[in-house]
Amino acid sequence: MFKPPISRMGGKSKLRKTIIDMLPEHVCYVELFFGAGWVFFGKEISKVEVINDIDAELINLFKMIKYHAPEIERMLEYDFSGRDIFNEYKNESVENLTEINRAVRFLYLTSQSFASKGVSYGYGTNTKPNHHIFCTDVLKDLKERLRNTYVENLSFEKVIDKYDREYTCFFADPPYVETAGYGNKFGEKEHLLLRDELSSIKGKFILTINDHPKVREWYKDFNFKEVEVNYSVSREEKARGKYKELIISNY
Ligand SMILES: C[S@@+](CC[C@H](N)C(=O)[O-])C[C@H]1O[C@@H](n2cnc3c(N)ncnc32)[C@H](O)[C@@H]1O
Repeated sequence: MFKPPISRMGGKSKLRKTIIDMLPEHVCYVELFFGAGWVFFGKEISKVEVINDIDAELINLFKMIKYHAPEIERMLEYDFSGRDIFNEYKNESVENLTEINRAVRFLYLTSQSFASKGVSYGYGTNTKPNHHIFCTDVLKDLKERLRNTYVENLSFEKVIDKYDREYTCFFADPPYVETAGYGNKFGEKEHLLLRDELSSIKGKFILTINDHPKVREWYKDFNFKEVEVNYSVSREEKARGKYKELIISNY
């Protein structure tokens, strides 16, 4: 069981054991919305594994960890947390960088920013700077873990079409319904497309999503498990709280 190298809004750190215990027998395991990959990095290795996310910088990071982890560690070893360095990385334009430099930039910006959004330098009065990424040997095990994994950077429906077999298990952790999310739009149209795709697969699926009346209606023909999770992207006590989520499956 590994800890992902980044945090991601909606990351399944608190739910991963529950989800892993519910995974059905399968040959091919596909994560459609990888994010930080809490479930992937926590579960046993499947015969064939696929990770996918639409975020090109995020997927580039995992590709570079897979192929060039030692070089990323070497580049970060003498770096440190600082507002000026953060702003320098932020102002770089990715088109002028190599894939390894893009991975280093993404890792720095997500790990040193407020709520891991890569937007503003994350400092605190009761939290220390995050120095995890400046330690060597953190990425080595992740490189090994990713060794036999297909890494895709597509929208989820294309991945479903490519990998759907009777022996495939799809894990879907899409952006929440009616919640501001990531760089790309994920509204009702995308949620309905996901529901339609998952409803017609040959394989199995397990989906996690916020407990919303629309979700209950869309997935009324499938199996539900209700769970309560304590999540927050905020350091403010008042913004923290328990959220109801649903784990939905077709088996
Ligand atoms: C809730 S997060 C996944 C969190 C992840 N399970 C974890 O443990 O960190 C949702 C992810 O979906 C990705 N995403 C948004 N739209 C997508 C699409 N159309 N196809 C694939 N991925 C998408 C976002 O970039 C984001 O990383």
